[in-house]
Amino acid sequence: MKLLVIGSGGREHALVWKLAQSPHAKRLWCAPGNAGIAGETLAAGGRPVECVPLSADDLPQLLTFAQDQAVDLTVVGPDNPLAAGIVDLFQEQGLRIWGPNRRAAQFESSKVFAQEFMEKHGIPTARSGTFATAEPARAFAASLGGCCAVKADGLALGKGVLICHTIPEANQAIAEILVDKAFGAAGARIVIQELLEGVEISLHALCDGRTAKLFPTAQDHKRALDGDLGLNTGGMGTYSPTPFVTADELERIGQAILGPWLAGCAEERIDFRGILYPGVMLTPDGPKVLEFNARFGDPETQVYLTRLENDLVELLDASAAGTLSAQTLRWRGEASVCVVMASGGYPGAVTKGKVITGLTAAAQMPHTKVFHAGTAKSGDGIVTNGGRVLGVTAWADSLAAARLAAYAAVDKIQFDGAQFRRDIAAKGLR
Ligand code: AMP
Ligand code: GLY
Repeated sequence: MKLLVIGSGGREHALVWKLAQSPHAKRLWCAPGNAGIAGETLAAGGRPVECVPLSADDLPQLLTFAQDQAVDLTVVGPDNPLAAGIVDLFQEQGLRIWGPNRRAAQFESSKVFAQEFMEKHGIPTARSGTFATAEPARAFAASLGGCCAVKADGLALGKGVLICHTIPEANQAIAEILVDKAFGAAGARIVIQELLEGVEISLHALCDGRTAKLFPTAQDHKRALDGDLGLNTGGMGTYSPTPFVTADELERIGQAILGPWLAGCAEERIDFRGILYPGVMLTPDGPKVLEFNARFGDPETQVYLTRLENDLVELLDASAAGTLSAQTLRWRGEASVCVVMASGGYPGAVTKGKVITGLTAAAQMPHTKVFHAGTAKSGDGIVTNGGRVLGVTAWADSLAAARLAAYAAVDKIQFDGAQFRRDIAAKGLR
């Protein structure tokens, strides 16, 4: 098969790395990819993965490319092209593409849609209200004592959620989004949720419109600094599985969320083929969904795909074709840990072009894979090219050993201003 992966981050490097291991992969392009993706080769035939300089948001060019190359399956990494309807566009032209169509992608692209769906279909979630004007929003936030999450409806580069603990904070968040339009049209409406307390985990389920196959648990670390301090980021590290959720509990949590979700999708004729990724808070009153994403998590993908035993081409093909019920997901018993190395200043403005050293030494370490996110080639070397730069991933029999191995590889790698957390997976070891 000829495959095209869309995106350029650590998630896409993990997807490419895993797809490239499949005997079905005869040719693989990534648009636009990164320096690490360009260094992968296909297991069948040894052909290099080819990066093509097309933006993940340039739908017409991506379509033309897929048509010209007669791509058999396109795999979409990021949320933006999904929300823009890339799946609908490719399907209208008779091309096979993996990911939810525009309507199904609304679980992520509209928080109002997702919240209303959850409430209508009995999916456990936070108490909430939806608002287009400031005054009733302020009244609702006041009824929660100001302890709330104020969320812009649309996609806002992961920055559209403001966590508030006082009424003045909440009023300011409401004004920022609804009055000052800090997120433009994405903030025409907001969802305000009560603030939930508990442990947050990531769930992923591969779906084919009728079936949902639940992955093991993972946990992300969204804050920039150790101890969950500092600014919210795209994710500074992950591990899987989370030892504090037993297999029975996962089964129950999955049922409580996916049972009503699947029934709701059937009732509303939403044909969701792709990854449903609920962010879940484990509260004293049971699991509650904070939000849905309609794609693989980044950096969750890095730990999941280093644990997955199945052929990913077969799984994604079955998800797109609606034949997932015939597949059984198989996971290595090992734990996997991913430590993100970011540019200095991330999640704020960063300087690019810093030379990265030590990648060869890290690559030689056993049970370790350094996934690239924001990297680029420069002459013979590799330089930083974004906020999150690398996802240093290692796996081992125990979480403690995987964590040590990941940090041993991190310690081999250097670039000017590198920042990373030292406590990834520590919560899983307590
Ligand atoms: P979201 O993009 O909706 O997942 O929100 C980003 C982050 O904000 C989540 O990963 C949580 O850490 C936090 N968050 C969102 N909603 C809530 C809530 N209702 N209660 C507590 N924390 C929340
Ligand atoms: N791990 C956070 C995200 O992918 O949204």
